[in-house]
Amino acid sequence: MGRVADKVALVTGGASGIGRATAELLAQEGAMVVITDVQDEGGQETVATIEAAGGRAAYHHHDVTDEGDWKKIIAEVIEAHGKLDILVNNAGVGGTGIPVEELPLEAWRNTMSVNLDGVFLGVKHGVGAMKDNGSGGGSGGGGGSIINTSSVLGFVGLPHTAAYTASKGGVRLLTKAVAIECAARGLNIRVNSVHPGFIDTPMVGGAIQRGGPERREAILKSQPTGEMGRPQDIAEGILYLASDAARFVSGTELVIDGGYLAR
Ligand SMILES: NC(=O)c1ccc[n+]([C@@H]2O[C@H](COP(=O)([O-])OP(=O)(O)OC[C@H]3O[C@@H](n4cnc5c(N)ncnc54)[C@H](O)[C@@H]3O)[C@@H](O)[C@H]2O)c1
Repeated sequence: MGRVADKVALVTGGASGIGRATAELLAQEGAMVVITDVQDEGGQETVATIEAAGGRAAYHHHDVTDEGDWKKIIAEVIEAHGKLDILVNNAGVGGTGIPVEELPLEAWRNTMSVNLDGVFLGVKHGVGAMKDNGSGGGSGGGGGSIINTSSVLGFVGLPHTAAYTASKGGVRLLTKAVAIECAARGLNIRVNSVHPGFIDTPMVGGAIQRGGPERREAILKSQPTGEMGRPQDIAEGILYLASDAARFVSGTELVIDGGYLAR
């Protein structure tokens, strides 16, 4: 038996990096995993990898900033699989690297739209679907686990990341507000945030490409362990929060950062 056997999971941004590793691990541990993204080729590749390993997965195109897309995907998951147990709000865009006085309002809005509006819409429609689940033990019914991907930059700032850091701080407290709202309503829906440190994914690769070898050196130097994490390091934490092993865990911040915030 896997740790999330017979559960139905939705992972946004599952075409790449942390989302892909999470989708693969949840499937390996027994979940039916619905992967969504705007990068269709990458999303199909994640499904192919999962199926080749004997797991169950499906891919849907889904822009997390679009509420119509959210309504459609949740309806499709319920129709095809009967329920939604796990929602991983992982899709995100990285920092702009632009000094604050030069940051165009459009760039600020784009970051907030994907990283914060996208998570809000996921939580809104995720709770809407999960409150009808019969499996929960709360007095108000329901059942499910929502994991929102914030960042170490939901706790501390970094130069040239005003929009990204603001969006991730928003995700951190949005998570807590909804966690206690669900508890107060007797809904057995747990809502937690995960806070990766620097993880070797295409998002960080893009920042390194823009900043050159010195940027890579600076990132590695900022790591207490001298190395970046791997997408699988974050997937393991998300699996825990998604599983029944975390049945008493809600509104918490799971930091997985190689000690970055410990200094
Ligand atoms: N890599 C890190 O160091 C790091 C650190 C802290 C937090 N995070 C967070 O982890 C999450 C995953 O990042 P990653 O490093 O795997 O990056 P990534 O670029 O490899 O993956 C992000 C995915 O999100 C998708 N996406 C972007 N905009 C979207 C939209 N509007 N709708 C649907 N999908 C969209 C992308 O297509 C991509 O597949 C993000 O929320 C990111 O902010 C990453």
